Amino acid sequence: MDPVRNPYAPGAGQRPPELAGRDRELGQFEVVLERIARGRPERSLVLTGLRGVGKTVLLNALRSQAIGRLWGTGKIEARPDQSIRRPVAAALHMALREIAPRHRDPDRVDAVLGVLKAFALREPAGAGPAGRRGAGRAVPRWQPGIDVPAALGRADSGDLEIDLVELFADAASVATDLCVGIALYVDEMQDVPPGDVSALCAACHELSQTGAPLIVVGAGLPHLPSVLSSSKSYSERLFHYLRIDRLDREGADRALKAPAEREGVEFSAEALDALYAVSGGYPYFVQAYGKVTWDAAPASPIGKDDVLVAAPTADAELAVGFFGSRYERATPAERDYMRAMAGLGDGPVPTAEVADALGRKPSSLSPARDSLLKKGLVYSAERGLVAFTVPHFGQFLRGQPG
Ligand SMILES: Nc1ncnc2c1ncn2[C@@H]1O[C@H](COP(=O)(O)OP(=O)(O)OP(=O)(O)O)[C@@H](O)[C@H]1O
Ligand SMILES: [Mg+2]
Repeated sequence: MDPVRNPYAPGAGQRPPELAGRDRELGQFEVVLERIARGRPERSLVLTGLRGVGKTVLLNALRSQAIGRLWGTGKIEARPDQSIRRPVAAALHMALREIAPRHRDPDRVDAVLGVLKAFALREPAGAGPAGRRGAGRAVPRWQPGIDVPAALGRADSGDLEIDLVELFADAASVATDLCVGIALYVDEMQDVPPGDVSALCAACHELSQTGAPLIVVGAGLPHLPSVLSSSKSYSERLFHYLRIDRLDREGADRALKAPAEREGVEFSAEALDALYAVSGGYPYFVQAYGKVTWDAAPASPIGKDDVLVAAPTADAELAVGFFGSRYERATPAERDYMRAMAGLGDGPVPTAEVADALGRKPSSLSPARDSLLKKGLVYSAERGLVAFTVPHFGQFLRGQPG
């Protein structure tokens, strides 16, 4: 059928034509927003799940919900080895700009922007001019693009925890004046450097005690809760973890049928069976197989044969884009490790068995395992177990020539 009208959208963070199966999460967040705006104690939400399961898309939907309530919002995507100071500054700047035009006292908003600028310009402790000398020439000073002079003596101590508490409190106070709140979204939260994670949790903890209307909404891989709790033991009471999983049969069908209906196209029941069999309900795969099937089908209703004809095209695209791009990032030793994991099955596997399969001592494999963890290709579901973060990755590896 007409590829121009093809509604499906495989791709990282791509808004799906139908956000299926997430009504519970959206409903819970409505309650969180309402409670926080009324100054009630409430835990922040943190979404966790495998690659391609729809965390970023849901995080964006939660952001739209907050914007719909006239909250100020901003978002960061954490990167390993990058401090969150500047990204957080930029995100809060965005949030304040969203709500500032409604504030009656521009001087008060400017005062908070001055604090934000001071926070943004503050070098991390220990990385002053002496720390920058190594490059041989001065690094140009970064400019946050805020038109007011930087304040002095607030949110600029260099200690991220203290600075975040002060900055969050000031930003939240502007929102309080307007009877709204501020939501800061943190994607790939497992990649926030350990010191920064601890500062962020501490700042949220401090803020939640004062009832200030600012929340941090996170998303990350399945081991994110253990990253947070090893940083601050009280993080379990701070965040409400929502596991984002693959879609059930009803959700996957809706994700395919609703967009097609809007184009006057239908699926046969057998076609939907076949699509669920190949996608396993994983949102990325639902979009990928839906897209090629649409293009392959000559007319509505889309039948089972159309799915079977199209599936190899999607398999090939996924092998390059979804699996291959990640496999490429692994070193030979890491690839051996992952192949051994794949040989042991699809669920979490004991690290001791991986070592056995490779005929090696477990300790000699720690570097490979640790770098795979750092690259986000595997995660540790619980002590002594490893699993792929990418759904169907074991199946993909088993299909590769040795
Ligand atoms: N609820 C949903 N219904 C239908 N399609 C969805 C849904 N959620 C996500 N998708 C689709 O799945 C794909 C992956 O979504 P997204 O990038 O949000 O996943 P992710 O969990 O953030 O992945 P990663 O861990 O790689 O960042 C996108 O193509 C998106 O359109
Ligand atoms: Mg994502």
